[in-house]
Amino acid sequence: MKKRYTLEQKKWDSPVEHAMPAQARVPASFTIGNVTIAPATVLAPMAGVTDTVFRRFIKNASQFTAASTTTDVDATPGAPHLEEMWAQDATAVEQATTNQQSGCGLIMTEFTSADGLSRMRETKRKRYLTYYDDEHPISAQLFGSNPETLADSARIVQDAGFDIVDLNLGCPAKRVVACNGGSGLLKDLPQIERIFKAIRAAVTIPFTVKFRMGWNDNHIVCVELAKLAEDNGLNACALHARTREDGYTGQARWEYIAAVKDAVSIPVIGNGDIRTPEDAAAMVEATNCDAVMIGRTAPANPWIFRQIAQYTASKEATGVGIYDHPTNEDRYRMIRTYFQMLVDEIALEDAAEAARAEAIIASGQIAREKRNRDAVGKMKQFAAWFTHGVPGGGALRKQIFESKNGNAVIAAVEQFFENPPTFNSEETEAPDTTLEALGAGCD
Ligand SMILES: Cc1cc2nc3c(=O)[nH]c(=O)nc-3n(C[C@H](O)[C@H](O)[C@H](O)COP(=O)(O)O)c2cc1C
Repeated sequence: MKKRYTLEQKKWDSPVEHAMPAQARVPASFTIGNVTIAPATVLAPMAGVTDTVFRRFIKNASQFTAASTTTDVDATPGAPHLEEMWAQDATAVEQATTNQQSGCGLIMTEFTSADGLSRMRETKRKRYLTYYDDEHPISAQLFGSNPETLADSARIVQDAGFDIVDLNLGCPAKRVVACNGGSGLLKDLPQIERIFKAIRAAVTIPFTVKFRMGWNDNHIVCVELAKLAEDNGLNACALHARTREDGYTGQARWEYIAAVKDAVSIPVIGNGDIRTPEDAAAMVEATNCDAVMIGRTAPANPWIFRQIAQYTASKEATGVGIYDHPTNEDRYRMIRTYFQMLVDEIALEDAAEAARAEAIIASGQIAREKRNRDAVGKMKQFAAWFTHGVPGGGALRKQIFESKNGNAVIAAVEQFFENPPTFNSEETEAPDTTLEALGAGCD
């Protein structure tokens, strides 16, 4: 199996269960420069995961088939009956949930090498920076260490029509750090400042930065770095509240998000260990951050953004926070939709490739085979995430893993969907609280 699809565990260390705070909720909106983000939730950039198909899937497809079970988190004795409130509030929730009801305010690309981008030919660049109209507002993330190259790439991003350009200062991957990219730069604030200045001078679209707290506990720079960002005209910053040396271990230290928020007046996006709407509200309460960013939970529970939006809207309307939980049918519908989107995307790319490369049929064939392999690899990866906790999930996973191409995978899902083994059964697999992330995963 190719390295790209080697599964590596980036799981939560003994996840903390947060109770829903009495008051705090994720803000309904915030702004980054002239871009309004509503609601104030962001899909974290994830290499190997947040490509255009996944991003559109999160924005458009992660809806529920019907209002199913709801969580009455703040119910107090004497409060109106939950179901009645839900019926009354459904309209409020729908109205308050922008972005095609998905509840995800901003999506971001996977990180892209500035060096690579500036060297690529026009056609290849386009493929790297592919996005569709329904992805706005969308931010493109770059990594690199050379100010001029990063500035050039930021211009390319702006010319490609992205709403926001983001700089990655968090990636702990050795191959990125080795050339001073990602979290490697956290040890060199003067170089970061040169990069900030070069990119700021190069583009007029909003410019943001995503970083970790510092290299290690002896070298925490997040507050200083956020101030540097503000002083150099950046429009927002996002903190994954861990150090480079932490990797994904331990708990995200939200107190550092609070410290950054205290120190600057540009919007601060909090990131790290949000698994539920309760966690999201708890992060806002603990840090006063302007928005929350969600990574690993999104592939395992694509409804998380919608759930947060429902919670926010119902809390706003009635003081009681409630949200839907996906049914098994929702889960299967989601798997099928996502896989179909992957297959459709390959067909589109094939058509574009054929139009471009009639003269180089051989290389076109190789590219086509690679795209198919990549798509099937993604299906297998996502099947592992999506099918946990549902009846018969293991059997479906087995079938998917044995499939040779995208259509065979979809046929397996279709068959399963048409004859669900135990949709009404009480018997379910134990939900998988771990998330296997791609070997190519970064930060
Ligand atoms: C598979 C994977 C790939 C990632 N790739 C990126 C990336 O390209 N850029 C980045 O800034 N962060 C990347 N991250 C880090 C996430 O954006 C996020 O900061 C981190 O997962 C913590 O958030 P979470 O606890 O909500 O998952 C990646 C994380 C994972 C699991």
